[in-house]
Amino acid sequence: MHYSNFMLSNTKILLRPAMAGGYAVPAFNFYNLETLSAILNAATITQSPVILAVSEGALEYMGGDILMGMIAGAKYKPGQIALHLDHGHSFEICKYACDLGFSSVMFDGSAMPISKNISESRRVADYVHKFNVSLETELGVLFGIEDENTKSDTHLYTDPNIVKDFVKQTKTDSLAVAIGTSHGAYKRKSPNESLRFDILEQIAKNIPNTPLVLHGASNIPQKYVKQINKYGGDIKNARGIAPSQIRRAISLHVAKVNVESDSRFAFTAAIRKTLATNPDIFDPRKYLTNAKEEMMKNCIDEIQNIMGSGYKI
Ligand code: 13P
Repeated sequence: MHYSNFMLSNTKILLRPAMAGGYAVPAFNFYNLETLSAILNAATITQSPVILAVSEGALEYMGGDILMGMIAGAKYKPGQIALHLDHGHSFEICKYACDLGFSSVMFDGSAMPISKNISESRRVADYVHKFNVSLETELGVLFGIEDENTKSDTHLYTDPNIVKDFVKQTKTDSLAVAIGTSHGAYKRKSPNESLRFDILEQIAKNIPNTPLVLHGASNIPQKYVKQINKYGGDIKNARGIAPSQIRRAISLHVAKVNVESDSRFAFTAAIRKTLATNPDIFDPRKYLTNAKEEMMKNCIDEIQNIMGSGYKI
């Protein structure tokens, strides 16, 4: 089914005013009813555009039919919400998402040789553009792990000298860049480590009309790490990207900022606390309600204090 039946917008429509207005549209990942409603409630409260991001693993976990059923039942304003495939690794999965009703797909050919990344990205563009579905591609490689499908133990910065040609040849609508962020909870050895703004500036100069995307942008709020460890968890040395660095990236054409780990931390911290302090609870709705609330609060905080996307709808 086409995404217009679900009142969704493509990401081209959401990212253009973001880049012009100096804010970023958050792409928050979800994988069940609770995480979806946490994000949508945050979007409603803040009047922010939001990209609902679904990884290949999350798509498999929910199943396409249940996922689209939840979207069909959700309430949001026209022009507010995009449904986006995060890190599609093949033409087939991008086509599947597009046919299902997604309004945007990412084809992630970053692990491929550049010529194959270009030809496969272009193949996806030629298909999805027929339905006015947006395409995001990636150049450079991010270190870290998001899920079994998306992980790398190497990091390769995006080469600013080839971005113009890449965008032209692939017909991509937005470009994910590697400037030092990484997927997962272990991003920085020290809080002072800086992103490569010199590279980002060059990229923005070379492709001034292309919205840029920052993956691996969680800041890993330390209050959640502490709470998880206080109530039985064991997470060491988790450290994210400082919000001030994300804000600086947003001022340099980053119009879409991807966040998943922060939501996982908020959700898990609330569950651990609820179960540890209420040992008699066994109704999942009780601890999931708290988890949903905490994740929503974190999304609101990031929309207001990092993305700057509140009141844009
Ligand atoms: P984080 O692990 O920093 O949340 O990044 C998520 C992401 O980039 C999803 O594509």
